[in-house]
Amino acid sequence: MCGIAGYVGPRNAKTVVLEGLKRLEYRGYDSAGIAFLDQHDLLHIARVKGRLHNLTDRFRNDLDSAPAAIGHTRWATHGVPCEKNAHPHRSADGEIAVVHNGIVENYQELRSQLQGNGYVFASDTDTEVIAHLIHYNWKSRKTSDLVDAVRATLRKLKGSSAIVVLSTLRPDTLIAARLGNAGGVVIGYGENEMYVASDIPAILKHTCRVAFLENGELAVVTPSGAAYSDSSGTPIIKHPVKIEWDAAAAEKGSFAHYMLKEIFEQEQSLTDTLRGRIDISRNQVRLDMLNMTDSVARRLSGVTIVACGSSYYAGLLGKQLIERLTGLHVEVDFGSEFRYRHPVLDENRLVLAITQSGETTDTLAALEEARERKAFTASIVSVVGSQAARVSDGVIYMQVGPEIGVATTKAFTASLVDLYLLAVFLGTARGTLDTNRRAELIRNIATLPRLVGKTLESMQHSGVIEAVASKYTDRANFLYLGRGLHYPIALEGALKLKEISYIHAEGYPAGEMKHGPIALIDERMPTVVIAPKDSLHEKMVSQIEQVKARNGAVIALATQDDTETAHKVDDVVWLLNAPEMLTPILAAIPLQLLAYEIAVRRGTDIDHPRNLAKSVTVE
Ligand code: G6P
Repeated sequence: MCGIAGYVGPRNAKTVVLEGLKRLEYRGYDSAGIAFLDQHDLLHIARVKGRLHNLTDRFRNDLDSAPAAIGHTRWATHGVPCEKNAHPHRSADGEIAVVHNGIVENYQELRSQLQGNGYVFASDTDTEVIAHLIHYNWKSRKTSDLVDAVRATLRKLKGSSAIVVLSTLRPDTLIAARLGNAGGVVIGYGENEMYVASDIPAILKHTCRVAFLENGELAVVTPSGAAYSDSSGTPIIKHPVKIEWDAAAAEKGSFAHYMLKEIFEQEQSLTDTLRGRIDISRNQVRLDMLNMTDSVARRLSGVTIVACGSSYYAGLLGKQLIERLTGLHVEVDFGSEFRYRHPVLDENRLVLAITQSGETTDTLAALEEARERKAFTASIVSVVGSQAARVSDGVIYMQVGPEIGVATTKAFTASLVDLYLLAVFLGTARGTLDTNRRAELIRNIATLPRLVGKTLESMQHSGVIEAVASKYTDRANFLYLGRGLHYPIALEGALKLKEISYIHAEGYPAGEMKHGPIALIDERMPTVVIAPKDSLHEKMVSQIEQVKARNGAVIALATQDDTETAHKVDDVVWLLNAPEMLTPILAAIPLQLLAYEIAVRRGTDIDHPRNLAKSVTVE
């Protein structure tokens, strides 16, 4: 989705903002732009279609300093990607510039009204109405206060929007506001300098002291600090919080892509996810921020998981883990479906959002619905202080630091671990897990990071993933099959491939293959089968036979030394022998690498896959 960066202070604001935008490239975008005030407080705007370097190149030899700037990377919703539709948009007199993330749902109506008042539009976007409306409100109210004009404008907008305004009318000031759930607005605190951004990585290099805007809030940001108010203009006191992320974690280092770096980080990231959560000597799982007492846990009548994309697939595995260990019925829904399907909820239901960004609009809307219906809400979230974390009754943080690759990897496996911990926690509180079983589960999860490390080492040394990727790079379609705990992993494996290589891939529950996908199988269609030696192994072998009988190629993920399965298939990727409930997490790793290696061979832009965004903040 759109990325926003802003700066006011003594340094060259253009440089700071362009650097900030660079760190937001992972959000995905199709055009970019910057507005800045020069030393004489004149407003300038530069915008380009396509990649960010088209914009930064323009400023390569530009040494003129600017005290304030706002920048934007656009992911088109209204109007095709082109220079005139790129942000910032400005008012007709050129004095007010606006960057925007979200959708103005009533923009047609506002546009007609403004046109009736003589405003001429230069773009096809919904954003441009905001710039003109601020100008209109400022002029017609004859107020010298631009902040009032911005607030009056916000009151007219329908939908969810995050905006930042820069104007000659109030130099050295950025006005930032948030309406609804259209992505976060982070205010960063420096020494006599301040930052505004849509995401923390844009400003992490400069500061880890940040404040977040809530729905309806507005911030007037100057080099010396920020003044906050609510939608009626009543001042609010906000104190910055410290983000514990390491700036180096948002750097690529020696890796060719962020995605590869994040795949190889997983031994460490999962160690971090478990930190402070398990106590083997006390036989305990601690989820302090979940804020759920044993009596609330005991009262639960069921769990509803809401999520989107890979987080939804994590939820499908979470369902199985929670049902196994707690006996609670769990349903899983897409945020975008849940909000419109009149779900059955009551105060004894746990509604659990899984969202690494904590800002996905559909998931947030589902959480809102659950809150209104008085359910107990909790979120599994990566970004500390994000909206999902703030609005939920309880939170389980992924504790993996920033994830920059658009195709999620380490946040996905962290969410699986958090779900495992939640299942053990609920099982303990509800008395469905006896002491021995609990001890076994806790001991097992403690071994996971090392198993992940060993899996990565063996993939690297054997070269098996590279070999498989080279063999099948030119295929147009892939099928991924899994069953039980591995069905969600098959879905995630297919999604990874689709996202970054643009190969059509379908994940399917293995037993369902004969009800459709089998018709597609021929010698050109590779099938990836997750077939570890578990309780469903024999069933998986029979699926392999069915694919082979139709001349399909099979790539199997099989348990080390399972030579019998290996002999039946074309390619085998060994999985370590591990407890059944950990195997899906281990199986996710080679599938991440396979998608990566195929995408490398197809020459796609792995860290910025076309049309995709790291967090989706529009409906
Ligand atoms: C986008 C990302 C996915 C992610 C999904 C949900 O589609 O590209 O990687 O799984 O959003 O994001 P969330 O932040 O809610 O987990």
